[in-house]
Amino acid sequence: MKGIVLAGGSGTRLYPLTHGVSKQILPVYDKPMIYYPLSVLMLAGVRDILVISTPAHLPQFETLLGDGSRLGLEISYAPQAAPRGVADALLISADHIGQDQVALVLGDNVFHGAGFAQVLRGHVRGVDGCVLFGSAVSDPEHYGVGEVDSSGRLLSIEEKPVAPRSNMAITGLYLYDNDVIDVARGLKPSARGELEITDVNQVYVDRGKARLVPLGREFLWLDAGTPDSLLRAGRYVRAVERRQGVRIGCLEEIAFRTGLIGADDCYALGAELAGSSYGAYLMEISALGERSQ
Ligand code: DAU
Repeated sequence: MKGIVLAGGSGTRLYPLTHGVSKQILPVYDKPMIYYPLSVLMLAGVRDILVISTPAHLPQFETLLGDGSRLGLEISYAPQAAPRGVADALLISADHIGQDQVALVLGDNVFHGAGFAQVLRGHVRGVDGCVLFGSAVSDPEHYGVGEVDSSGRLLSIEEKPVAPRSNMAITGLYLYDNDVIDVARGLKPSARGELEITDVNQVYVDRGKARLVPLGREFLWLDAGTPDSLLRAGRYVRAVERRQGVRIGCLEEIAFRTGLIGADDCYALGAELAGSSYGAYLMEISALGERSQ
């Protein structure tokens, strides 16, 4: 399975923070925002990842992440010339996806919860159609919203409905089979002039090939596209990390624990960041020498 992190857009809701800096580079507490969605792909076992951003911001991601080899990944980059919509990412990625399946994650989405890696790994194998992940929210009108029948079957998806039919937001993590390239090629721009990911998903719903996996109360899903949601995400990460002494979205740790890099590599990456508590953490966990899924 190939991975895509969509990290473009103009970040207007965060102006002036995003004048000159990509939104997805901004800090969510102790690390750049893109670490969180990237960690989701890593936990799902995806190693070959395309990062898409604006032509102006792409170099910032290349400086931050390089070719991914230090994390045991293959990271490549592609520009999105204009913000033509989330589904445009699938067109940009057609060559990268090739004949494979794909996991697309939005660069401002944060997921956290016990056993998330197992949930992901249970769904990435043999995707037939699309797999969407739903999360209950108090403000569904700001998201794509899924309507499910009494047996949990997905009936429809509405993008930012004025009167939501449920409180189940469709999160920014999407798994697709290879048909998605053709589906994206057949899209027409929406009223706001974008290729909507909800329209892609609706095609799969109409074909009876869309699954909605509800993430229960044990999972938290956040996005970080406004000053308040950015602060909320940072506060959440800080609270968990300080209380539990663990890190959320720590790419080097995930690479180490999933066997992509060894203890020595992890220690060396930490030593490069010596002086920060993040670097100290990496040196500490690598010295413990534990490896687990
Ligand atoms: O976060 C989940 C939601 O993401 C879903 O519930 C919605 O169904 C989905 O449409 C999307 O809604 P947003 O309102 O968050 O979409 P937005 O246009 O803000 O784009 C999401 C991210 O993708 C944002 O971080 C910027 C990036 N982006 C967006 C567009 C339109 C790009 O990189 N390029 C683009 O052309």
